[in-house]
Amino acid sequence: MHNFRRIGVLTSGGDAPGMNAVIRSVTRYALSHGVEVFGIYEGYKGLMSGNMKLFDERDVSNIINRGGTILYSARSEEFRTEEGLQKAIKTCRDNAIDGIVAIGGDGTFRGATDLTARGLPCIGIPGTIDNDITATEYTIGCDTAMNTTIEMVDRLRDTCESHARCNVVEVMGRHSGYIGLYAGVAVGASAILIPEFRFEEDKIIEKLVKSKEYGKRNLIVLISEGLGNYGEGLSKRIEEKTGIETRFARLAHVVRGGSPTLRDRVIASEMGVEAVKLLLSGKSNRVVCMRDSHICDEGITYALTLDRMFKGKLSPEELDAYSDDEVKKMRDYCAFKRAEMERLYKINMDISK
Ligand code: F6P
Repeated sequence: MHNFRRIGVLTSGGDAPGMNAVIRSVTRYALSHGVEVFGIYEGYKGLMSGNMKLFDERDVSNIINRGGTILYSARSEEFRTEEGLQKAIKTCRDNAIDGIVAIGGDGTFRGATDLTARGLPCIGIPGTIDNDITATEYTIGCDTAMNTTIEMVDRLRDTCESHARCNVVEVMGRHSGYIGLYAGVAVGASAILIPEFRFEEDKIIEKLVKSKEYGKRNLIVLISEGLGNYGEGLSKRIEEKTGIETRFARLAHVVRGGSPTLRDRVIASEMGVEAVKLLLSGKSNRVVCMRDSHICDEGITYALTLDRMFKGKLSPEELDAYSDDEVKKMRDYCAFKRAEMERLYKINMDISK
């Protein structure tokens, strides 16, 4: 087994509620196993410049309940270059850092793979509100973001009800309609519009008219940011075509902040421990995942390929590295994930008014 003396922990990409709970878990578990921990500030940018602090127990006290990330986050172009990667490797060599736990989304994992390929063992933990890492059922931050979304939309619904209005609400999710779909079902949205499924705008508008005729005073249309700047225009067209007074709201980053939910805190705690266990057992280039509600791990390279397959971004040559059986398994898994979303999408169509 590799003898780890020191590891680093960083958060990269968009922040997510629960990241602090991961930092706490990684730090506490490592320290209790005789491994020192550097908290690295501003993600890979901080790793390149050596912006970090050797943590003690107290540095991670009172953070499990805090949103954002005490390590801050940043996106770095320089880190994508060989020169940037070499700077990061040098920081680790100079400070005797034997491995890194990197919390974030797919960009974070690409960085972790690049570092692993240059001799620095890395483990990824999925932290993004979007829940768009295909290899895992769950990414830390999503539950909090969805709960904040439903709280906000419930408030909008109160005022819609008073004024007999429609509200088009745009929620976050750069390439994924996951938040929009689940929060949409949870708020009883009249319609959910997400990039994964085609829809006909005229049919949506027809449905709103029927709901109004049926006596519904509050009409909520939940749309995902991934559709581009669609919501504002849609709300104007609803008003023009139906005469129903319609407002538009973009929740944006408001759902990315705030105190993490129980689910985010618990999963973050479990995943943090798992990441350190993986490093200490000599594993690297792995991402901690959740499958069938259990914590497990997957190769980062595999996870990134699976992700591109699910998002339709895969070039055929990428599959050359996998056997026919593996490719079939990947395709089946992607089909299952999509079918699950579709099932919920259809349920909402059947039960919403
Ligand atoms: O990936 C998380 C996310 O919040 C997306 O939902 C959103 O599109 C993006 O980050 C926003 O990024 P930024 O914080 O750079 O505006």
